[in-house]
Amino acid sequence: MGTEVTHRRRVSATLPDFPWDTLAEVKAKAAAHPGGLVDLSVGTPVDPVDPLIRAALSSVAEVPGYPTTHGTPELRAQAVAALARRFGITGVAEAAVLPVIGTKELIAGLPRLLGLGAADLVVIPEVAYPTYEVGGLLAGTRILRADGLTRLGPEKPALIYLNSPSNPTGKVLGVEHLRKVVSFARERGVIVASDECYLGLAWDEPAVSILDPRVCDGDHTGLLAVHSLSKTSNLASYRAGFVTGDPELVAELLEVRKHSGMMVPFPIQAAMSAALADDEHESVQRERYRARREVLRSALLGAGFRIDHSEAGLYLWSTRDEPCRDTLAWLAGRGILAAPGDFYGPAGARHVRIALTATDERIAAAAGRL
Ligand SMILES: Cc1ncc(COP(=O)(O)O)c(C=O)c1O
Repeated sequence: MGTEVTHRRRVSATLPDFPWDTLAEVKAKAAAHPGGLVDLSVGTPVDPVDPLIRAALSSVAEVPGYPTTHGTPELRAQAVAALARRFGITGVAEAAVLPVIGTKELIAGLPRLLGLGAADLVVIPEVAYPTYEVGGLLAGTRILRADGLTRLGPEKPALIYLNSPSNPTGKVLGVEHLRKVVSFARERGVIVASDECYLGLAWDEPAVSILDPRVCDGDHTGLLAVHSLSKTSNLASYRAGFVTGDPELVAELLEVRKHSGMMVPFPIQAAMSAALADDEHESVQRERYRARREVLRSALLGAGFRIDHSEAGLYLWSTRDEPCRDTLAWLAGRGILAAPGDFYGPAGARHVRIALTATDERIAAAAGRL
């Protein structure tokens, strides 16, 4: 008797096309520029990993055993200390820190890890990092794009995503806005996941965490803050981040992730501890981006672009008041590749996202061509 698979759901069919795969043509056009391509379409770091972090990585390279899903006590202690030092976040228990293999995997898996399904609603920003939607789709939840609570009407979402400073818009939510979301979530028993990937990259005034005592009054119930080391410490290649907040929620995530083998490699944990213990490399990197931002910003404004929000983070949310694919083609004619705003939701259709993550030489080349 044959064993026939009678029903297999193609998971990929439930997901959108991988956005960057759709840029091949415009990328080829930009790459044909005699001065070479300036790729500002992705937020991938280009500056080398700090020697202090590399040394920490290699210092434990001989260790053969399995790492723990919960991470080393040293890593968790350094995360708690860094959150307090860098952002004024207090009251985080070391046990409530959970390392992740880059925050993208956590975000893509979060609705499923929290047990959400078809009956549940996940709310994501109008213009959003695409993985929030992917996480909902993978778990089969309903998804609503909304920036304001009034858009929700009588709905009781299971999970609300915040992303301040935002990718792609660079918009920062203030204490009052965040307080309103927390109070709404408390009243209705909603979980708030705050993706704080760019919290350390604010250009004018500091951005505020969901776990800031001015926002949550020191009560982390129902709140999760997601922190990536990819951008602030140039560790995208290492895959390094953590989630923290509500001790009960983090304990539940830990339990499920333990069974699934979602462990951060031990040398990466050592590298993360070193990165979290040192603010100097982070500040050097922030100043590199600040300088690149100034060069690109003036060039874009000089070329007639308008830049919206973008007061923090690694992107200039730019528009020529035309469909984003037209702007993309205009930039490609100058050898510059940007990301079209429609990657991030229908409301982004007239913007392009221009990343600051290129070398000084490439940023200067882009500015010259603009
Ligand atoms: C808003 C946001 N969240 C999360 C991530 C994922 O970062 P990582 O998986 O490198 O931690 C990114 C990466 O670009 C991002 O822009």
